Order: sequence, then structure tokens, then C-alpha cells
Amino acid sequence: MSRLKIVAGNWKMNKDFEEGLSLASEIISMVETEAPSGVQTILFPPFVHLHALASLAKGKQAIHVGGQDCSMHPSGAYTGEIAASMLRSAGASHVLVGHSERRQYHGERSSDGAAKIQQALSAGLTPIYCVGETKEERLGGAFEEVIAAQLQEGLGNLNEVQMGQVVIAYEPVWAIGTGLTASPEQAQEVHAMIRGWLRNHFSAHVANHTSILYGGSVNAGNAAALFAMEDIDGGLVGGASLKSRDFTDIVKANR
Ligand code: 13P
Repeated sequence: MSRLKIVAGNWKMNKDFEEGLSLASEIISMVETEAPSGVQTILFPPFVHLHALASLAKGKQAIHVGGQDCSMHPSGAYTGEIAASMLRSAGASHVLVGHSERRQYHGERSSDGAAKIQQALSAGLTPIYCVGETKEERLGGAFEEVIAAQLQEGLGNLNEVQMGQVVIAYEPVWAIGTGLTASPEQAQEVHAMIRGWLRNHFSAHVANHTSILYGGSVNAGNAAALFAMEDIDGGLVGGASLKSRDFTDIVKANR
């Protein structure tokens, strides 16, 4: 099945402007010379770095930049918010939606994610919609229901054409920043369930073509085993994306 392979680096709130520019320059030159063809690399820096990074990545087919969030509104009196169309005009091609840190620290709900996805699609951005269960939800055993509800609320109102433009990231909250990675089998189980959900709610075509990324303590040592799983099409990388060598090795692991 031909699905787009993606390795995305979410820098979160790290790197000042100069540091960000030099990290991006290193990553771009390493990825350009070393990465297998056919893997899309996306950098998600803090907003204020976006335009400069987009200029660095200009003309490099395999390298894209995106925003870590966007507003659910198109424009207006929303102090501190950034519209999807602004990200696009600054050179972004992608945007993260519903990251667990937005859910955890900013009270974001999946229904907010649905509104943000609409804004992203209208602006011509590819949304990467993040889902995942907490440790308590996993231990409680009903984590697949939690994820199904996140999918339903975030994506359930899209039509098939719109869904065809969305990427999904499975990021178990207990694995983010903890060094506790989901095993390849644990991740594969959830990715297969997500693909099943896509098949039931949209179509076999959508299910077969939607890239589903794994995130949560991905590093250069565990990436290849995760990416080898049938339904894992790449990674959304936090901590290890802040080191050019590690991040490039993760991109190289997605072959
Ligand atoms: P870590 O790779 O640092 O666990 O972060 C994962 C993540 O949240 C990426 O969005």
C-alpha cells in the first residue's frame, strides 16, 4: 500500500530564533544528503521562527514547515491567536491540531480540533490531528473508546475529500517526554484500530491512503522497529527532533 511516509519534528517551546535557524539549517542539509527519497520531513518550530525556516526550506521538495497550533477562528479580535491563513502566508504547509499538551494545559477539546481542522483545510494547510490516551485511560482498559471518541469528535464531520487531506498522529500521553515508548506492537494495535475507524466512517480508500504517525519518545534507537509496523507511516518526534543527528537518523529509519 503506498502511503506517504512522514517524519515530523515538533520543537514545542524550545530554541530561540538564532538557535532555531541553525538547527533547521543543519537538519535541512543532513536530510537532503542522507534521507531516503520519498520521506517527507516536516519541522514544527515556534511560530516566530516559521517564516525564516520556510525561507530556508524553499525549493526543497522533501522539507516542509508547519505551525504547532492554529486558531479555530478565521480572523478577528482574538489576542494572541494565529489564524491558519496567516500560517499559510508565512510559508507553512502543515499544522498540528489537538496536541495533548494543548488538550492538557489549554483545555482543548476534540470539538475545538474539528473547528481548527476546518480552518486549516480552508487555508490550504494539511492538518495533523493528534489523538492519544492518558496513563489512567490505558490502565483502565477502555483506551480504544477514548481514541475513537477523539476521532469521531475531531474528524467525524469531514467529508471524504477533506479527510483525504488529513494526517493522524497517535501520541499516547504516557509516552510523551517520558522515555517510555509504546512498544511497536502496542502502537501497531492502535494504528490498526484507527485505520479500521477510517474504513468504517469513510472508505477503504481513505483508510488505505491516510498516513498515521506515531509519537511518544521516538528516538534514533527505536524508530526503525516502530516504522517497520504495517500501519505506522512515520513519526511525530519531540525531544529527539532538537538534535540534528538524532532527527536525521529517525528520518533515515523510515524506509
Ligand atoms: P517526545 O518525543 O519528546 O516524547 O514528544 C512527543 C510529542 O509530543 C511530539 O508531538
